[in-house]
Amino acid sequence: MRKKLVAGNWKMHGSLAENAALLAAIKPALAGIEAAVCVPFPYLAQAQAALAGSSIAWGAQNLSEQPKGAFTGEVSAAMLLDFGCKYVIVGHSERRSLYGERDEIVAKKYMAAQAAGLTPILCVGESLQERESGVTEAVVARQLDAVIQAAGVGSLGKAVVAYEPVWAIGTGKTATPEQAQAVHAFIRGKIAALDGAVADGLVIQYGGSVKAANAAELMAQPDIDGGLIGGASLVADEFIAICRAAA
Ligand code: G3P
Repeated sequence: MRKKLVAGNWKMHGSLAENAALLAAIKPALAGIEAAVCVPFPYLAQAQAALAGSSIAWGAQNLSEQPKGAFTGEVSAAMLLDFGCKYVIVGHSERRSLYGERDEIVAKKYMAAQAAGLTPILCVGESLQERESGVTEAVVARQLDAVIQAAGVGSLGKAVVAYEPVWAIGTGKTATPEQAQAVHAFIRGKIAALDGAVADGLVIQYGGSVKAANAAELMAQPDIDGGLIGGASLVADEFIAICRAAA
C-alpha cells in the first residue's frame, strides 16, 4: 500500500508573522500525519525551527542545477540540505511557463536534487490548449521521458510526481476525479512498462485547485496518492482538512 502525501506549495506568499501563525496551527493538528510544506527560500530556517521533530517535513520550490559557483541569485541543493529540507519542487508549470524552464533543465534540477539526497517533487501537466487538442498524454509523457532518459526510471523510486493540469492551477477549476485519475493511471502505466516495482511504489500527487471540499473524492481515486496544494495550503483549516482527507 502506498502512503499518501500532501504537500503545500506556498509559492511567493507569506511573511514571518503569517508563517508563524500558519505553522503553529498546522503542526499540532497534523501530529502523526505525514505532510510537507514547500516554502519560499528566506523562510526555510523558520520552517525548520518550527517543524523540526514533527511529522511535517519542509522543502523548497526550486533549486539550481549547479552545485556552486558564480550563479547570482541561485540556490543549490546543498544549501537546501543545510536547512533540513526533505523535498524540493522541480518543473512547476509556473517555472516552465514564466521562467523558461525546459524539460532538459528540469531534468538537471531533478538530478541535482537527488544527488544531494533531496526528494524532488516533479511536476508535469498539460495546458488547456494542449488538453483541448488531445495531446495531454503526449505532453505528460514527454515531460516524464526527459527525466527518465537523463536519470533512469529507477530514479523515480526516490521521487514524487505531481500531476498538475495547468488549466486547474489557481483557477478554481479542479479536474474531475475521473479526469485526474485517467492521467494518473496513464503515468503509472507508462512507468510500469519500464519498471513495475517503481510504478507501484511511486507517489503521484494531484495539484490544481484542491480544497477541503473536493479533497476526499480526489484522494479516493486509486492512483491519486496525495496532493500538491497551492492557495488552500495558506489557510490552516483548509490545509489540515486536505491532509486529513488523504491520511
Ligand atoms: O503546486 C500547487 C499548485 O500549482 C496548485 O495551485 O492554488 O490551484 O492549489 P492551486
